[in-house]
Amino acid sequence: MQLMSSRARGAALLLLLLHFCHSASSTQGHKSASALAVMETTGGGDEEEEVTLEEDEGDLEVVQPTEEWQTLQPGQAVPAGSHVRLNLQTGQREVRLGEEQLKYWTQEHRETEESRSSFSPTELKRAMKKIKEDMNPASKDQQKTFRPMEELKRDMAKLDLMVETDVQIMRRLLESFNSSESTTEQKLSVLMELEYLVHQVDNAQTLCWMGGLQLLLEGLNSSDFRLQQSCAFVLGSAVSSNPLVQVKAVESGALQTLLTMLATAQPLPVTKKVLFAVASLLRNFPYAQRHFLSHGGLQVLSELFRADRGGVLRTRIVTMLYDMISEKELISQTGLGLDAAHEERLRQYSAVSLQGELREKGWCSLVPQLLESTEHDYREKALRALLAMAPVCLDQYRSDGSLLGSLLSLREQYQEMVQSEMIVGEENGYFGEIVELINALQVKIK
Ligand SMILES: *[C@@H]1O[C@H](CO)[C@@H](O)[C@H](O)[C@H]1NC(C)=O
Ligand SMILES: *[C@@H]1O[C@H](CO)[C@@H](O)[C@H](O)[C@H]1NC(C)=O
Repeated sequence: MQLMSSRARGAALLLLLLHFCHSASSTQGHKSASALAVMETTGGGDEEEEVTLEEDEGDLEVVQPTEEWQTLQPGQAVPAGSHVRLNLQTGQREVRLGEEQLKYWTQEHRETEESRSSFSPTELKRAMKKIKEDMNPASKDQQKTFRPMEELKRDMAKLDLMVETDVQIMRRLLESFNSSESTTEQKLSVLMELEYLVHQVDNAQTLCWMGGLQLLLEGLNSSDFRLQQSCAFVLGSAVSSNPLVQVKAVESGALQTLLTMLATAQPLPVTKKVLFAVASLLRNFPYAQRHFLSHGGLQVLSELFRADRGGVLRTRIVTMLYDMISEKELISQTGLGLDAAHEERLRQYSAVSLQGELREKGWCSLVPQLLESTEHDYREKALRALLAMAPVCLDQYRSDGSLLGSLLSLREQYQEMVQSEMIVGEENGYFGEIVELINALQVKIK
């Protein structure tokens, strides 16, 4: 048969694509399909195939997708993880946010979304364009656009090569970061890519076994503060909620390096990211918390706290301490007499003498200073931490005239605000919550 109908060719192509999906996803235990997903819509007797393609962000003009489908203009690229479909009826490519992105962008990731940079998908685009033409011959003379199956297969194979798995991407990024030929700008852009990738548990572990942790730690030592900042950011993201990577990082000496950085003067953006990395490293990891305490972590933090006039660092520090206290309490409150693993966790947490150390290092009188901030949010964080520390700090609270004064005046202020909230018809709002925190603290102090 010399000519295939467009439908037959479409179907053949779909089979090929499906085959790719299968082989791409079976090579790694990937959480997200970073490659291709293909759907066939057969409803309504209409001939329409839909290609859902997740492609990497381009070096072209980048479109920010939304929840709605929007038409892509030629030459425009979209961020990784977007859903791109080829509408074969209009011949247009359309884009909207992918599932992961929807989650990603609504979570605490706004810091990088504007600065993610590129690895080039131009070839992929070219291939897609060709395939699009083959699948949509209506616009052209069928004889002329027909290409033999072998040629199509070759194109598809090329496409398969160009759709890198995350592991391949990580390897390429780390090589580029480690290359003496890369400029600082290139390294920074690599770190942005990595930061995005390591939010996935698997990718962060890949980073470890590829030797990436060591590279990041060396990067923390860089003389360029932007590299230090980005390395700390990637490190923090890699260890977040990832016990395996937390262990590896502590074993590689990350905690000491980070604490040393906190103890020496750094530009504020570096300190912020280093603090983020320390907090992520300590989270739900009593072993690291014990190291943190025995290496003078609380002392380092208290010096940072005292030196911070703006309050940005103060809040982050207090939040971090609060998180540590509450996770320990949560563990000891839940699951009495559960399994051995739980027993072991309890044992590990009991070795972390956080509360006693907090009192010794003067935090009972430091945290109240955060109440002097004008930010509601900062004050709320301070109140929560004060409540959490109450068991060891009560004596000091009672003799802290300025704390008692602050509580009185804040209570008055927030009660007034609650009144006006009620007039607007909003009950139990944010300010009401703050009043309750103050009340709870005053009850304890009495
Ligand atoms: C970085 O490069 C050095 C030598 O150039 C090499 O020994 C090392 O293994 C590389 N590290 C990684 C993680 O690729
Ligand atoms: C960072 O620098 C310090 C002092 O220059 C050195 O002792 C340490 O080994 C370096 N760390 C890494 C990971 O290169």
